[in-house]
Amino acid sequence: MAAMRNVSVLLFLVVIVMFIGVGVEAARMIGPHKPHPARCDFHQIYQLGDSISDTGNLIREPAGARTAFAHLPYGETFFGNATGRCSNGQLMIDFIASAVGLPFLNPYKNVEANFSSGANFAVAGSTALPAETLAKMKIVSPVTNSSLSIQLDWMSTHFNSTCDNTKKGCAGNLQNLLFMVGEIGGNDYNYALLQGKTTKQVKGMVPEVVSAVMRAVRTIIQLGGTRIVVPGNFPIGCLPIYLTAFQSNDSALYDENLCLSHLNSLSRYHNHHLKQAIKVVKQEFPNVSIVYGDYYNAFQSLYKNAAQLGFNVTQRSCCGTGGKYNFNLINMCGGPNVPICQDPSRHLSWDGIHLTEAAYKVMATWLMDNILPKLGCNA
Ligand SMILES: *[C@@H]1O[C@H](CO)[C@@H](O)[C@H](O)[C@H]1NC(C)=O
Ligand SMILES: *[C@@H]1O[C@H](CO)[C@@H](O)[C@H](O)[C@H]1NC(C)=O
Ligand SMILES: *[C@@H]1O[C@H](CO)[C@@H](O)[C@H](O)[C@H]1NC(C)=O
Ligand SMILES: *[C@@H]1O[C@H](CO)[C@@H](O)[C@H](O)[C@H]1NC(C)=O
Ligand SMILES: *[C@@H]1O[C@H](CO)[C@@H](O)[C@H](O)[C@H]1NC(C)=O
Ligand SMILES: *[C@@H]1O[C@H](CO)[C@@H](O)[C@H](O)[C@H]1NC(C)=O
Ligand SMILES: *[C@@H]1O[C@H](CO)[C@@H](O)[C@H](O)[C@H]1NC(C)=O
Repeated sequence: MAAMRNVSVLLFLVVIVMFIGVGVEAARMIGPHKPHPARCDFHQIYQLGDSISDTGNLIREPAGARTAFAHLPYGETFFGNATGRCSNGQLMIDFIASAVGLPFLNPYKNVEANFSSGANFAVAGSTALPAETLAKMKIVSPVTNSSLSIQLDWMSTHFNSTCDNTKKGCAGNLQNLLFMVGEIGGNDYNYALLQGKTTKQVKGMVPEVVSAVMRAVRTIIQLGGTRIVVPGNFPIGCLPIYLTAFQSNDSALYDENLCLSHLNSLSRYHNHHLKQAIKVVKQEFPNVSIVYGDYYNAFQSLYKNAAQLGFNVTQRSCCGTGGKYNFNLINMCGGPNVPICQDPSRHLSWDGIHLTEAAYKVMATWLMDNILPKLGCNA
């Protein structure tokens, strides 16, 4: 049994290393365009996180260069080539940057890039907890070791080299900066669950994961950041990877949206802890705007209104093969002979883990409506 288990863990690792990304495209289906006021006048955005926001860091790491994200069909819909984004096109951060009048955020690992509008430190596959901490829990971080604390070091190095006020980072001009801390932590749970931990065991990790996220928030405040968005986790029980891995004939395990209740409950548990922790830090720093990014409800809203928004496939991956959810962990998007759907803009899920550009666009719109006023941008 132990050997079997090792084999399946190994298989899972191989799969994950082969791959980690997802999705873009569909202006026509969003309905009447609502312009977003750019009154905050953001000059720069700094992003920390994982595959939900990586715009090209992982594929610039040695192991990441060999992942599916470095190749088509990733990027096919918008960029015409792979950029390292885990989708068929633009990510939420791309839509957010555009909406506030900034160019796409360059990945920090692209040494030739122009960082005058900010930088993206997010790495697909990364975790909130350091790889060594996860290793102590017998959880392997298979794709990258560039966890949140390492991304924070990159940020600090970047500020030290670009800001002349060494005493307090870029203080003085940090007013017009937007910091995105996440989504991050989702992979800590993904790896734990897919490597055999129970939901109960994973819930036990939540306080430590949330603390790691909040340490990052405090570091940014020390650097002088005053506008910080901290996104929560997706309802992961709606994603093809989990719907496949934990598929069951017991209808009691599914909620009214046919998503796996216990996994969505885990996400809500994480999000609840995160919101509580944000409250505490807000009280400590009343001058700093810290806003929770509600990915959970943004996705639920998209999911519930999918048909009206022009999506007719909510649970099957666009790029994938096999089973009820068109997903197979050992033959994922980007693998040999894995088919791609005809119209990604009608699918929510790109590769079974990440969303399509079209889905991200709807979520980004929902999030900006929700977040920008809280950052004082509609005043
Ligand atoms: C697409 O990306 C690959 C890998 O980064 C690169 O070798 C290739 O030249 C690119 N193709 C185009 C058309 O930009
Ligand atoms: C970097 O980008 C900014 C804004 O997009 C532009 O004004 C500036 O000229 C660019 N710098 C270089 C060195 O290309
Ligand atoms: C992460 O670090 C460990 C220990 O240094 C190393 O064995 C492993 O190969 C690294 N993993 C990746 C994906 O870089
Ligand atoms: C950046 O500069 C500060 C102040 O000099 C220093 O404490 C910190 O260690 C530096 N960070 C990095 C990553 O070099
Ligand atoms: C569900 O039931 C069918 C028919 O009894 C069985 O073949 C299948 O293995 C079951 N699936 C799961 C996930 O238990
Ligand atoms: C908050 O901002 C006000 C006005 O800029 C300043 O006087 C005060 O010291 C700040 N308080 C904190 C806790 O940073
Ligand atoms: C979704 O809509 C398209 C376009 O009308 C259609 O071709 C496709 O068969 C539909 N897919 C499903 C699963 O209903």
